[in-house]
Amino acid sequence: MQQLKINGGHRLVGEVRASGAKNAALPILAAGLLTAEDLVLHNVPDLADVRTMLQLLEGMGVRVDRKGTDVTLNAGAIVSTKAPYELVKTMRASVLTLCPLVTRFGHAEVSLPGGCAIGARPVDQHIKGLKQLGADVEIKEGYVVARAGRLQGTRIVTDMVTVTGTENLVMAAVLAEGRTVIENAALEPEVVDLCNCLNAMGAKIEGIGTSRLTVEGVDVLHGAEHTVIADRIEAGSFFVAAVVTQGDILVTHCEPHHMEAVLDKLREAGAQLDIGRDWVRVRMTGRPKPVSVRTVPHPGFPTDMQAQFMTMNCFAEGTASVTETIFENRFMHVPELMRLGARISIDGHTAMVEGVPSLTGATIMATDLRASASLVIAALAAKGSSTVDRIYHLDRGYERMEEKLRSLGADIVRVRA
Ligand code: UD1
Repeated sequence: MQQLKINGGHRLVGEVRASGAKNAALPILAAGLLTAEDLVLHNVPDLADVRTMLQLLEGMGVRVDRKGTDVTLNAGAIVSTKAPYELVKTMRASVLTLCPLVTRFGHAEVSLPGGCAIGARPVDQHIKGLKQLGADVEIKEGYVVARAGRLQGTRIVTDMVTVTGTENLVMAAVLAEGRTVIENAALEPEVVDLCNCLNAMGAKIEGIGTSRLTVEGVDVLHGAEHTVIADRIEAGSFFVAAVVTQGDILVTHCEPHHMEAVLDKLREAGAQLDIGRDWVRVRMTGRPKPVSVRTVPHPGFPTDMQAQFMTMNCFAEGTASVTETIFENRFMHVPELMRLGARISIDGHTAMVEGVPSLTGATIMATDLRASASLVIAALAAKGSSTVDRIYHLDRGYERMEEKLRSLGADIVRVRA
């Protein structure tokens, strides 16, 4: 088991490059299943979830050629339409192979992801929409087993805004016969990026970036070349690190217009922001002001930044509330932050955070992907040394996190326990 050892209290100063977005790369990699030709991708981050998706695709017979952040996929000779439990259980986004497989090959067997630490996270909307498109779907021995002739365009209204649900259904619709309208579609930049990639492959999607996606089905998709957007959550995590260490960090190669809700909240906290076309500089002097946040779908404040803002509020001069409306169990970082001396109380979906002048290093345990980032950030600003355990969660979604932090002046090393 690997751990991070962090000696806190250093100001983080310098420049860091944002990686490609994990949550855009995963559906776009799954989209490689939709064509027999090469899909050439750039800016694909090198992290555990991407490796899992590539392994899953390779198991299906997809040819994968990877050089750094460039990945070429070819799904010209598929040997399997099954996504096995062993891989799906490590990454829920594996479910994104369901619709591409069914719409192109008429068959898929994808393990149900099951619960995960942050909540039950069902995939009922993916299944409901796929059935509406004409597939026969049943659950057999823990697998979603779907069969279909050519899917038929239809109108789908999802019961809630779902990011991967929207992505899966768009991928089903692109090769369906006729027109599909998806209402209540997710607006996240990662959904937009997937749609742009699909259109580059010959799909006909309109309304991209709105809550109504209209898809005219086509007979085949062709190869394409696409560059994955920057990871707004990784960038946001560095911004929070700048605030709590009272530092000065310039994040380059990012997309500020994808992060407006987060940037507004950083301003409210008292950070000084300079924003360019593809960069953001965050400077902080003194303790942050408390900022209350409530997670909602894009363009509101993202649930994937909730834990990091909880950490920021731990250092604030005053009390803030943090309300989580997307996932039912996403406060697992709270007891760990309290081990560092944070003052937090939870009432249902809301945490009240009373800022303290400083936290003190301790051994803490990462519980999920974004929670682990919040703990690392807290440890960077805490007095003394901390050990962050179970960092495989961090490795799932952050590319070379400790290397990037070290380049900004953090005292952080990875050790084997
Ligand atoms: C995606 C992101 C994740 C982010 C989340 C919300 C990826 C790979 N992951 O997850 O990082 O935290 O969006 O921004 O992009 N729901 C159902 N039934 C469904 C689908 C969803 O009840 O069929 C519920 C979920 O349990 C949750 C809410 O809808 O309460 C939103 O979930 P969703 O947007 O689907 O999250 P993911 O796509 O899994």
